[in-house]
Amino acid sequence: MPVTVVLGAQWGDEGKGKLIDILAQSADMVCRAAGGNNAGHTIVANGVTYDFHILPSGLINPSCKTNLIGAGCVVHIPSFFKELKALEDKGLQGVRDRIKISHRATVCFDLHAVVDGVVEDHHKKIEEGKGMIGTTRKGIGPSYGGKVTRKGVSLWMLVNEEQQWEKKLRELEAECRKLYGDDALQGYDVEDEVTRLRGYREELRKYVVHQVPLLAQGLGRMGVAEKIPEGEAARQANVLIEGANGALLDIDHGTYPFVTSSNTGLGGVLTGLAGVGPRTLTAPGSNVVGVVKAYTTRVGSGPFPTELSAAISPVDADYGVKLQEIGREFGVTTGRRRRCGWFDLVCLKYSAFLNEYTQLNLTKLDVLDTFDEIRVATSYKLGGVVMDDFPVAPEEFEKLEITYKTFPGWQTSTTGCKSFESLPDKAKEYVEYIERELGIPIKWIGTGPRREDMIVR
Ligand code: GDP
Ligand code: IMO
Ligand code: MG
Repeated sequence: MPVTVVLGAQWGDEGKGKLIDILAQSADMVCRAAGGNNAGHTIVANGVTYDFHILPSGLINPSCKTNLIGAGCVVHIPSFFKELKALEDKGLQGVRDRIKISHRATVCFDLHAVVDGVVEDHHKKIEEGKGMIGTTRKGIGPSYGGKVTRKGVSLWMLVNEEQQWEKKLRELEAECRKLYGDDALQGYDVEDEVTRLRGYREELRKYVVHQVPLLAQGLGRMGVAEKIPEGEAARQANVLIEGANGALLDIDHGTYPFVTSSNTGLGGVLTGLAGVGPRTLTAPGSNVVGVVKAYTTRVGSGPFPTELSAAISPVDADYGVKLQEIGREFGVTTGRRRRCGWFDLVCLKYSAFLNEYTQLNLTKLDVLDTFDEIRVATSYKLGGVVMDDFPVAPEEFEKLEITYKTFPGWQTSTTGCKSFESLPDKAKEYVEYIERELGIPIKWIGTGPRREDMIVR
């Protein structure tokens, strides 16, 4: 029954994909709980670079037989097929035999992506662009919006019903035209989208499954129909849950409204993969792993207390550029530059509170190798008083005073270090400080993008 849940502990792009790939080598099943193809996980394995968006990263490992896109996800069907094809083109075998989508997952239409772009462009033009979220424009917000207002189309409906989903899509289009005007939807043709989706249905049907029996089998639990024979231990699979996005992008607990539209933390796992519950998560061997970069990045708009920008000072701006360049901080989904800043303990303590990480993977330590000094935010003050909670409003973030602790840089290469002991002393001090402050063991330390660039403690 044990499961390992891997979650992004900051604003996404912490390096979840790499850890998932490593752990998937001994997993039977990898499940995505929430989100859509806003995610972008880059994995470098066997000299090949793979990008994953909606597909679970377990697909790289042939021994990982089931890769499930769970009920809490939104799925853009053309992107799903494009991604499968891209993996096949890179030589991965049997991916189509190992991928499943919950019949309860929600369809993300092209129309949702168009609307995502229209809303963003609108906000860009008014109030100096203050309301612009900087979404991935993949239609994530609009498709989750449709789901919670009960206008969504499930995968079940898409593959089983002839007329219903078409009707729903046409109704949505009419509604959008009324709301945003014909000009905004220029270039979008609903009948084209209907025809395209009709073309996918037969192939799609092969992948759409009932999630409960699949999860029940994986977790060694009783499903709806079957019963575990008395005296017989249920066969347990090694189940891995792949988080997407990051804790501070959570719709309820993130830097709202500059967040994504799903629960990106443990909450999203409990709903999107319902059946994974407290007993599973506290079973011996289960873990919730927080993946955390040795500094901080964020792509898109929104509060970022430790951001290193020219607004603070030219020296800080230089540190930011250095992190961005050495860390190759470009979004894999949109190609945008990621904003960069120092490690933020306040964020991490909040994130750790939300998701109860039992282990951490500190990633990209090597990116700090050439820094003369490295800083860590230790507290936020508002009106001169140390805050005992994470700020809620963008206006609060604007007024924060940040307290930092400064560490001397180790200025030695850590790339290729295979053990904690072989790290430079100052790097060890940095890692141990973070570990001590958070009170969570750092079990993995990333020292490069490749699978093998990972210290396991
Ligand atoms: P994810 O969305 O959390 O899976 O992270 P991304 O794949 O979007 O971004 C992480 C980037 O850093 C990818 O390009 C990885 O190949 C790379 N990466 C992961 N871990 C390390 C590491 O320890 N060191 C370095 N230098 N790069 C890493
Ligand atoms: P992975 O899984 C980084 C951000 C977007 C934007 C906000 C809302 O690769 O860590 P959306 O398109 O979801 O409505 O955008 O959320 N965002 C991410 N940033 N990594 C991600 O995923 C992200 N998924 C969404 O940049 O600020
Ligand atoms: Mg990413």
